[in-house]
Amino acid sequence: MTKILFVTSEAHPLIKTGGLADVCGSLPKALADLHQDIRLIMPNYNALKTNGHVRYVCSIRVDNREVNILETQLPDSNVLVWLVDCAEFFNLPGNPYTDENGEPWANNAVRFALLCRVAVECAMNRIHQDWQPDIVHCNDWQTGLVPALLSLETNYPASVFTIHNLAYQGLFPSHTVAELHLPGQLWHADGLEFNNMLSFIKGGLVYANKITTVSPTYALEIQTPEFGYGLEGLLTFRQDDLIGIINGIDMEQWNPELDSMINPNFNAATLNKKQLNKTKLQKKLTLPVDAQIPMIALISRLVEQKGIDMVIECLPEIMTHSVQFVLLGAGDKAFEQALQGFADNYPNKIAIIIGYDEALAHVIEASADIFLMPSRFEPCGLNQMYSQRYGTIPIVRKTGGLADTVIDASPETITHGTATGVVFNEANAGSMMEAVKRALLLYTLPTAWHRMQMDGMQKDFSWQRSAENYLQLYQSI
Ligand code: ADP
Ligand code: GLC
Repeated sequence: MTKILFVTSEAHPLIKTGGLADVCGSLPKALADLHQDIRLIMPNYNALKTNGHVRYVCSIRVDNREVNILETQLPDSNVLVWLVDCAEFFNLPGNPYTDENGEPWANNAVRFALLCRVAVECAMNRIHQDWQPDIVHCNDWQTGLVPALLSLETNYPASVFTIHNLAYQGLFPSHTVAELHLPGQLWHADGLEFNNMLSFIKGGLVYANKITTVSPTYALEIQTPEFGYGLEGLLTFRQDDLIGIINGIDMEQWNPELDSMINPNFNAATLNKKQLNKTKLQKKLTLPVDAQIPMIALISRLVEQKGIDMVIECLPEIMTHSVQFVLLGAGDKAFEQALQGFADNYPNKIAIIIGYDEALAHVIEASADIFLMPSRFEPCGLNQMYSQRYGTIPIVRKTGGLADTVIDASPETITHGTATGVVFNEANAGSMMEAVKRALLLYTLPTAWHRMQMDGMQKDFSWQRSAENYLQLYQSI
């Protein structure tokens, strides 16, 4: 049995801003199912949904600050979660990374450095719990200082660093190094320095024993200048220690047969009931109620990564077709306003819901015919997998995890029963529009469409195999 300390800034259902939380909420459970001793550590945000099940563990002093460690469990599991309790940093309204106005917390470097330092105390068995991990598994830049700080200890556990998104690196001005009291040994071009900035993510990329990312294709892409943000050289240098392991999904939470947030439930044998979800959603969103009209959906953070600009560019042409377009998302204000403008102009065809709504996300997946995910880059992506599970055909750009999880519809793949979506190559509006038109054409061919839905619904997106891959990796170190 391997002992794993899993360090993260978010985990569903305790707190979630995106796919990182989905993964950090479900991979630990899958590892626990493989009989591993895994514990999570994350900040005690005031928005954390622990349902009051929290126990005091101990108080420690780190970097001249008194911090409590609390303990809870990942809901619906036996996985123990240690919470770094520091009210001044985490007990605030807003989300893990931004304040109520959506601005990054001014003290993000200090906040996440504290998470890292406490994680190191746990990893070194200095919190009086008589538990030392064999592996410390860190996720994204917020946890990047952990491998770096561990490297200064003696007899320290091995570390794995997972890149969920290389676009977010935790870059701070060089004077932050002194503010965080980081030892000088770490501050050089082959350490935490990046273009004279302090780079949290380099702590993971340089000092972790192994680096993983969340799809095999993204593992290759980040070794090129187009996706590497200047880190491609370092990643290529570490290619023998870098592997891509595709994310799984929580097959219980995202199961149309048992999903309590949708009504009626359905499965591959009762797929006709999917339409009832659609007509109910049409009513709710005051769109014309018509089971036949294809509904295209998008659920996403509204940021450039997700190709929202391409969607905005294509919407006038999409509107010339007989379709409905439903979007749930929040993010860049300019995108939000442009989309809202379209909804005002096409009230019978477009519904835009600005905000974050977990339950509505399930309803939309159950209702839509087509799910649009035209990402410029996508380390893995989860909604294209949720979509396939719910009989909703994804349109995706061929990048990262989208390329690894959706098989393009062609006469051959449809006949062979492997086609599960529509894939396009170029990150531009023209290429995306061609894919939308192709999907709308396929929608008029009921046999092919049904076949694709069935093939997607029967795919195994469970964590089992990927969790086994992580386990093998831990054991190889
Ligand atoms: P990323 O982590 O880059 O945002 P992923 O596809 O990995 O992208 O995961 C996004 C997750 O966040 C999915 O579970 C998706 O359903 C959810 N999500 C994104 N935006 C919203 C929203 N506005 N309301 C509800 N869920 C959302
Ligand atoms: C990041 C990526 C997304 C991935 C998620 C979970 O947020 O943008 O592609 O699915 O992490 O690994």
